[in-house]
Amino acid sequence: MAVQISPSILSADFARLADEAAAVAPAADWLHVDVMDNHFVPNLTLGLPVVESLLKHATLPVDCHLMISDPDRWAPAYAEAGARNVTIHAEAVHAPVRTLRAIRAAGARAGLAVNPGTAVEPYEDLLGELDMLLLMTVEPGFGGQRFLDVVLPKLRRARSMVAKRGAEVWLQVDGGVTEETIERCADAGADVFVAGSAVYGSADPIAAIQALRAQADRATAHAAWTP
Ligand code: DX5
Ligand code: ZN
Repeated sequence: MAVQISPSILSADFARLADEAAAVAPAADWLHVDVMDNHFVPNLTLGLPVVESLLKHATLPVDCHLMISDPDRWAPAYAEAGARNVTIHAEAVHAPVRTLRAIRAAGARAGLAVNPGTAVEPYEDLLGELDMLLLMTVEPGFGGQRFLDVVLPKLRRARSMVAKRGAEVWLQVDGGVTEETIERCADAGADVFVAGSAVYGSADPIAAIQALRAQADRATAHAAWTP
């Protein structure tokens, strides 16, 4: 699967979300929307009403990352609203199979996220229920944090697990992904890259996305995991 770039609007101007979504549309593959509830993570962003409004304006497919408690209750509504991908956290979900199936039944791709300290191996049997596995490369909650290299061995294991199972599961990285770190992620097995501050903190977000993509493409072409 080709490299995909998903700019995170967490680093955008929240008073101009439609414009900020349009600013990355010519170069990005997805628009990453971070939903935080000040409970699962110590920060508060936006919820379903704002996502519903954004969906009316965004031309890119919306990639919702739910950093919330009780995703079992809330996740399907984001899929019903029209998000193309809905990712829930393994640490927060109570009934992952039921919730992942509900997301898919509502027409979205289903994602499962794990924090830096959460292992992926316990979820191997769930790979058939997933379209994407998100490996957090910072502790979730804030943009602009330093990339955690400690996650890279887990990313390699996740890539082997997906290959072994022959699963069509995308591997997303989120947190601290920049021109300095993206090659390490691609080399270790990531194929979907979230970038917040590296894109929206740039004077030229389109050029920033193009540069990230070029680096990820180059590293993927030389990576041991690619066929
Ligand atoms: C953090 C969010 C990320 C955040 C990444 O918890 O899930 O999506 O926007 O921001 P950067 O790319 O600045 O680390
Ligand atoms: Zn995110």
